[in-house]
Amino acid sequence: MNTFDPTRFAVISDIHSNADALVAVLRDISDQGIDSIVNLGDHLSGPMAARETAELLLAQGMPSIRGNHDRWLVEKRPEDMGSIDRVAFDQLEARHLKWLRELPPVLWVSEDIFACHGTPDSDTTYWMEAVSSKGGVVLRSREEINSEASEITASLLLCGHTHLPRRIDLPDGRVLLNPGSVGCPGYGDDRPVPHLVQTGTGAACYAVVERKAGGWVTAFRHIPYDPRRMVELAKAADHANWETRLATGWVN
Ligand SMILES: [Fe+2]
Repeated sequence: MNTFDPTRFAVISDIHSNADALVAVLRDISDQGIDSIVNLGDHLSGPMAARETAELLLAQGMPSIRGNHDRWLVEKRPEDMGSIDRVAFDQLEARHLKWLRELPPVLWVSEDIFACHGTPDSDTTYWMEAVSSKGGVVLRSREEINSEASEITASLLLCGHTHLPRRIDLPDGRVLLNPGSVGCPGYGDDRPVPHLVQTGTGAACYAVVERKAGGWVTAFRHIPYDPRRMVELAKAADHANWETRLATGWVN
C-alpha cells in the first residue's frame, strides 16, 4: 500500500458484501491512476459474498472505519442478528471478525480530512437526510446538518450510511460528502418510521476527491457492472427481494 495521498483519492462506502460491485469500482479507480482509497464502512453485511469481500478488502489494506452493520457483526450474538447480518456472519472466519473488531468508528484521514459512517457521534444517524413522519426521505435542515459538524475542524468531512451520493457545502466553506454505496443502491428500514432509500440506478457508486487551489473538487462515479452473480447469491440466501434493488436501485 502506498502512502495515502490526501490531495487526490477515492472514497468508497457501504459495499454490503457485494464483491462484484467492489471489483468494478476498484478497477475504475485504478483506471484513473488513483491509488489512495478511504472506505467508510458497512463492508460485509449483506446476503451475498461477505467472505469474498472481506478477502478483497484485507488484501487492499486501505484506511477504513466500521459501519453500524460491521459493529453489529461483532457485538451481537448470532441469534440476535438481523437476517442480512446473519448471512454475512455465517461466511466469516475469526480473522475477518478480528479485522472488523479493530476498525475505528471514525478516522482522521489526514489533519484536514475527517471520516465517519453516519455522523461524528453516531453510526446510525443520517447526517444529510431526514425521514418524515410519512416515511419520506428528505434533505435535513441546514441547522441540523451544520450542528453535527460543530466539533470537527476538518475542511473535508466524509460520511456514508444513507447510500445516497450527496455533497453539501457548510456555511464556513467546509465540504460534507457522502460517496453513495458501492454495493447496495436501495434499501428499506423501519426506523424511525418505515422508509425506503432508493437511488434509481443499479450502478456501483463512489466518489473521487481532489484538493485544488480553489477548494475540494469532487465527482461521483456510477459504474455499471453485471449484478447477476450477486443476485443469485442473494436468492440462495433467501433474499430474492434483493434482485430488484441490485439491478435497478429501486426497492420494489
Ligand atoms: Fe450503515
